This record gives sequence, structure tokens and C-alpha cells, in this order.
Amino acid sequence: MILLVGADGQLGRELSASLGVLGHLSRWTVGNMDLADPDLESRLAGVELPGLKAVVNAAAYTAVDRAESEEDVAYRVNARGAELLAGLAERHGAAFVHYSTDYVYGGSKAGPYTEEDEPAPLNAYGRTKLAGDRLSMAACPRHIVFRTSWVFSQTGACFPRTVYNLARTRDSLEMDCTQRGAPTSTELLAAVTLLALRGVLGRGPAAWGLYHLVSSGEATWLEFSRHIVSRAAELGLPVRLGPGAITPRSVPDLSRPAVRPLNSVLSTGKAEETFGIALPNWTYYADRFVEGLRYQADLR
Ligand SMILES: NC(=O)c1ccc[n+]([C@@H]2O[C@H](COP(=O)([O-])OP(=O)(O)OC[C@H]3O[C@@H](n4cnc5c(N)ncnc54)[C@H](OP(=O)(O)O)[C@@H]3O)[C@@H](O)[C@H]2O)c1
Repeated sequence: MILLVGADGQLGRELSASLGVLGHLSRWTVGNMDLADPDLESRLAGVELPGLKAVVNAAAYTAVDRAESEEDVAYRVNARGAELLAGLAERHGAAFVHYSTDYVYGGSKAGPYTEEDEPAPLNAYGRTKLAGDRLSMAACPRHIVFRTSWVFSQTGACFPRTVYNLARTRDSLEMDCTQRGAPTSTELLAAVTLLALRGVLGRGPAAWGLYHLVSSGEATWLEFSRHIVSRAAELGLPVRLGPGAITPRSVPDLSRPAVRPLNSVLSTGKAEETFGIALPNWTYYADRFVEGLRYQADLR
């Protein structure tokens, strides 16, 4: 049995669709287990899950700007919640699979960050996620932690969907060209999670540790948004905005409370070697995202 926590988030929905092939999948949402609950420790202490092989934690407090004024709540979910879920896995002799963020890094490095680079989070969200990485890895030695970035999905509220919606109604748009990262689809994250879990279930080598897991290539938000609207126009989707009408903003948006790292490109050599995978370029998944929009439009 595998327990999936955060089953209703972007990644949780993708994992819900793919992990069932491994055996019984039990899904927890905020509705049946609130990780911010001050009584979480005692609630989890009473949980018995016979046959539990892995806890996969896709739950997180992900409101990056709101976390600046709610760091205590974000900490309860991202740090203490992750630690207690890792403890639940450990108590059952199960593995713990967890997801973290590029925002644990400070962004001043010239090249891609490796797993060995020292984190230096610039915002409250990054601090709480980093604490969660450390606490959960200590609580369950049989852990796999994937640090990823700029996550998008076919079903959730995410950056490319926002861009597409704006491109249908706006004639111009400004987009940040200072931050660099790798847009990463939940499809990729779920596919590699499945591979990693095969090892956990004894069907391959188990590869415990911390990994960077993102698409290959890199982009700015400007490049990502231009790619989305170009592809949408090519597919005949109803966009008013052409890529040239998205103009660069070369200073950070000071109206947002949380500071973001300028460079959060992550090196993925360790994951590629360990899991025997080649990570597709982010444009592959961005194109699939836009094709999915066409299908959704056809259904309306
Ligand atoms: N989104 C990104 O750009 C990004 C970038 C880097 C890393 N990550 C990491 O990737 C993982 C998956 O992120 P995602 O994009 O799938 O996030 P998401 O769509 O925001 O999903 C997070 C899930 O956690 C749930 N959750 C929030 N507070 C909770 C609580 N107190 N108790 C239980 N569940 C709670 C949410 O429920 P509600 O929706 O009902 O609140 C939601 O279902 C996270 O670890 C995140 O930190 C994300």
C-alpha cells in the first residue's frame, strides 16, 4: 500500500493518476488530514496502515507571497508536517518520498545548482521547505527527496494557464526576464516518481537521497510565456496576444512580498544517472500543455 498525501494538488492529482499501477493507493487530502492541525502529531500517532510501503508527500503550503505573513502556518505544513509524515513512514518500515523547491537556493550562483550547493533561501516559503527537507530526511533515512522548480500541470492553477487566459483578453503583457529556471511538468515528476517507487517496492535498486528533478533547458518567465502564446496561436487557439506583445520587465516586481532567486537552474546529473533517465526539454511539456488546452476547448 502507498499513501499519497496532498492528493488534490497539481502534483497530487498527477500522482493519483499514475501510482495506482503499483498497488493499492490511499489518498489523503487536506479534508481528511490537515497538516497545519496543531494536534497533527497525536492524530498521526493513532494511524495504523498495515502493509504500508511508502508515504508520498505532495502536500505543501505553496502560496509563496502569503507565506511572508504566515510563516508559522507554512512551517507547520512544510517543515513539521513533512517531518511527522516521514516519522509515520519510518514507524511502518516504509519509505518517504517528498518534493522540495528551487527556492531553497539563493540564486547568486553563475551556473546550475547541484545537490551539494549550500541552500540560502531568500523567502519564508524557501526557509520552511528547506527545514522540511532536513527534518524529514533525518526522521526517515529511507527517503527520496526531489527538488523541483516552476511546476505546471494540465489540471491546476499554474503559470502557463494564467498566461493563456491573459492572452485571450489582453493586447499587451509585461513579463519578468530576470529570473532563470526550468519549467517542469507534473507529468515528468510523476513518471520519475513511479520509477523511483519501483526501487522502494523491491522491483529495482532503491536509491535513497536528495535529487534535483526538473526538465532540461532553462528559461525566463518571459521566454516561457512567449512560448505558450506562440504555440497556442500555431494551434489556432483564440489568443489575441502575440509573443511580441509580451515585453520584458527587467526589474523585479516589488509589489510581491517574497523575494525570488534570480538563478534557480538545477543540475540534474545525479537523478539522470541514478534512475537511468533522460529528462526532456521543458518545451516538450509546454507544447503538451498547450495541446491539452485545445482538447479542453474542443470539449466546451
Ligand atoms: N508549484 C510550484 O511551482 C512548485 C515549485 C517548486 C516546488 N514545488 C513543490 O512541489 C510539490 C507539489 O506542489 P504543487 O504545485 O502540486 O502544489 P499545490 O498544487 O499547491 O498542491 C499542494 C497540495 O497541498 C495541500 N495542502 C496545503 N496545505 C495543506 C495542509 N495544511 N494540510 C494538508 N494538505 C495541504 C493543498 O491543498 P489545498 O489546495 O486544498 O490547500 C494542495 O492539495 C510541493 O512540495 C511544492 O513545494 C512546487
